[in-house]
Amino acid sequence: MTRTAETAESAETADTAEDYASTIQLRDLWEDPYPIYRRLRRHQPVAWVPAANRYLVTRHKDVVHLERHPEIFSAAEQESLMIRVMGLTMLRKDGPAHLRERKAAEPALRPRIVKQHWMPAFQRIADELIDGFQERGEADLFSEFAGPMAARCLALVLGLPEVDPADLQTWSQALMDGTGNYADDPVVWQRSETAAHAIDEAVDTAIGRLRAHPDASVISAMLHAADPLTPEEIRGNLKMFIGGGLNEPRDLAGVATYALLSHPGQRALAEADPARFRDVFEEAARWVAPIGMYPRQTTTEVELGGTLLPAGARLGVVLGSANRDEDVFADPDAFDIDRGERSHVAFGGGPHFCLGSWAARAQVGQVSLPTLFRRLKGLRLSDTEPVRLGGWVFRGTLNLPVRWEP
Ligand code: HEM
Repeated sequence: MTRTAETAESAETADTAEDYASTIQLRDLWEDPYPIYRRLRRHQPVAWVPAANRYLVTRHKDVVHLERHPEIFSAAEQESLMIRVMGLTMLRKDGPAHLRERKAAEPALRPRIVKQHWMPAFQRIADELIDGFQERGEADLFSEFAGPMAARCLALVLGLPEVDPADLQTWSQALMDGTGNYADDPVVWQRSETAAHAIDEAVDTAIGRLRAHPDASVISAMLHAADPLTPEEIRGNLKMFIGGGLNEPRDLAGVATYALLSHPGQRALAEADPARFRDVFEEAARWVAPIGMYPRQTTTEVELGGTLLPAGARLGVVLGSANRDEDVFADPDAFDIDRGERSHVAFGGGPHFCLGSWAARAQVGQVSLPTLFRRLKGLRLSDTEPVRLGGWVFRGTLNLPVRWEP
């Protein structure tokens, strides 16, 4: 059934909602997207939003439905800026071509390998970073902990331990800026091209080493898979890993820490039973999804959420909204580690479900959060500088000034 079959009264509401969708500004989405999403979910769950140049899909059930039908809702978006910046990667392929590349990388990120191989290294990195500032009694945990922690862990997992973590952060940001460069800013293209070249060089060096000496890393897995990836395929996919595997654990660590520091009751629950930092991780991923929106494109005319979409329609799959859908989550704007439901979609769904979810859970939920709250006694938000959050395609804290007893 499409909207045309609805009653006159609700059609009128839909008209108003259509007007509303056309008034949405990117700046407002960036500041605080949640009130906008609430209105879209209610009145026009699949809405053409001119400012985003996409239909935004905001309801949980439509996001889940769409991920179950990748033959209709394709990840291989035409004229994708991601492809322009990174080349072809598994994230912009469908079917067997996607599966082949995913299967090659997957052994490096299995839960058992994460637990036995990567987690002890993640713990060492977290402790080293905290050693560097513990005596000071204050820090910006976003720039001094969450960012470097994510960069160092990712470098290790990928097989690029010789890369400077600061370079990795710069490259990651440059690639993400290029992926979102709808304004066609030549400076942004230049920066993303420079980053892409630097990554190619680092990956080529790693390939030379890992061909002769395999290890547990992603590059090694791709090289030595039963159906090995070519150097060009590895380069493209590594850009996607660097663009997508760094900012998300960083942002989630920032949001989860901020959530606990601003919800003393929830913090007390986690500190009383550190196993509950895993619940903190899941709830923070639901509350502020680090990847707030990703693209899909229809391969045929299809109806979704009461809207008839033409073939080739560009969609924005709004995880940040699906995770706050009141039809699935009671009191969705509240941060509540006791809610129990695990149906959040922060890691996506379907064939492209996040390959790094176990590494992210280990890094943030099992290492970073328990270690920060155990080692930094009396951890609290700074009383002079507020925490800022921003973004809608990617969303997280922009800073995290804190104090503790040195
Ligand atoms: C909290 C942290 C993370 C979040 C919230 C997250 C979220 C996501 C989401 C939503 C997708 C699906 C994107 C789409 O379908 O267009 C995805 C895919 C992916 N993620 Fe993550 N991610 C995180 C961390 C990581 C890490 C640490 C790695 C690598 C070590 C990683 C590697 C990947 C890869 C390779 C894909 C593509 C999988 C495919 O195309 O089959 N992610 N992630």
